[in-house]
Amino acid sequence: MNSKLVAIAIAVAGLAVVPVARAQQAAPKPLLSDEAFKNVQVLKGIPVDDFMQTMGLMSAALQFDCADCHEAAGTQKVDWAADTPRKRRARAMVTMVTNINKNNFGGQQLVTCFSCHHNRDKPLTTPTMDIIYGTPQVDPDDIIAKIDGMPNPEAILDRYIQALGGAERLAALKSFDAMGTAVGFGGLGGDGAVEIAAQAPDKRAMIIVFKKETGRGDEIRSFDGRIGWVRTPLNVLGEFQLSGGDLDGARFDAQFSFPGQIKSLLTNWKTGPPMSIGDPPNPQGADPAAAPQTHITDPVQGTGPRNLLVTLYFDRQTGLLLRELRYGGSPIGRVPTQIDYSDYRDVNGIKFPFRITYAWLDGRNAIVLNDVKTNVPIDARKFGRPVPVTGN
Ligand code: HEC
Ligand code: HEC
Repeated sequence: MNSKLVAIAIAVAGLAVVPVARAQQAAPKPLLSDEAFKNVQVLKGIPVDDFMQTMGLMSAALQFDCADCHEAAGTQKVDWAADTPRKRRARAMVTMVTNINKNNFGGQQLVTCFSCHHNRDKPLTTPTMDIIYGTPQVDPDDIIAKIDGMPNPEAILDRYIQALGGAERLAALKSFDAMGTAVGFGGLGGDGAVEIAAQAPDKRAMIIVFKKETGRGDEIRSFDGRIGWVRTPLNVLGEFQLSGGDLDGARFDAQFSFPGQIKSLLTNWKTGPPMSIGDPPNPQGADPAAAPQTHITDPVQGTGPRNLLVTLYFDRQTGLLLRELRYGGSPIGRVPTQIDYSDYRDVNGIKFPFRITYAWLDGRNAIVLNDVKTNVPIDARKFGRPVPVTGN
């Protein structure tokens, strides 16, 4: 987490909208932004988790933290509903962007805050000579354009299944329970103990318990095959039931915990141009034994329900998955989540990544596993509504 993101996390800490979160659990239908909040004028009628993602997207596009638009965010005095000049400006920009897309691009979300702002409060207006003559930065497009001569996506997925241990072994994988440690980036304090448990075909939980003295509370993400929850204490919503793009993402990750079924999880598969990916950063600091390497990958993209878009980057050398980049939808653009995998090790004939890095709009977690048990019984309650371990 960079310092801005730490600031965001701290800004919203302790401000949990508890009644909102509670109301939502009881409600079978998603709680909508304008029901949950007091002064929503343009981002109405969307699930609260999608609404919070739009806040993350705005912050990311302008390199702002919450306090840049919400006065006193990060203190007990914050009034999220109060309008500030920047908040009014941002609201007008939401309407502007919607109209640009409607009037020029048939409503497709081709222009977003990031298109103009690129991490700046005031967009650049003139290309600089450095941009014209400097080393171009190559950023991949969200949507992969199909190009000729690339291996067919099914073949890459088959090779992946083979590299993991083969279809037969993967089909026999019914559950796993993995233990390890989680390290937050940016020094929010201390390692957490992590457990990732999954039950075929579509249940998953990730439970991170931080040491009590860090005051971080337990971070729990669960999906029971139908309903998903997130409990992140450093979040305006505290604990909430997933409903928007987050729910589609959680379902995909639960199903993809059993990679033998990958081909049936998404549709419209296509292969993109090769891309190189470096090893994920080592959050523990420099470890000479683990000098980062660069890998050539073949990106394979598929689409899921609603706006779910997933790109999987497979190592050309080993056939193994190095990165999952998935996007959910929001009224102001796609919401990215990136998961990097490395250090694959054999567990009863199946390869599991022992290092996993999660990055989403408001944080990063690096997970190092030390023990994975396959086909063990798992308490079904782990996949349900989060039960805090430490009581934090
Ligand atoms: C670029 C400015 C901007 C940034 C940065 C920003 N917001 Fe907002 N926020 C807005 C706007 C605009 C609205 C009102 C949206 C509307 O009217 O539909 C809003 C509304 C809200 C609301 C609803 C308040 C209510 O009761 O009506 C909450 C909660 C909120 N923001 C939280 C956050 C958090 C948390 C962050 C940091 C992750 C954040 N915002 C970052 C512009 C911003
Ligand atoms: C078509 C380009 C474009 C898009 C897209 C765009 N903006 Fe802007 N934005 C601007 C320009 C230009 C300014 C004015 C800068 C100035 O006043 O010098 C600005 C200013 C702002 C400001 C005031 C910044 C400050 O501190 O002065 C905010 C806040 C803002 N935009 C938020 C957003 C948000 C949120 C989105 C996405 C919903 C967005 N913008 C999309 C062009 C854009």
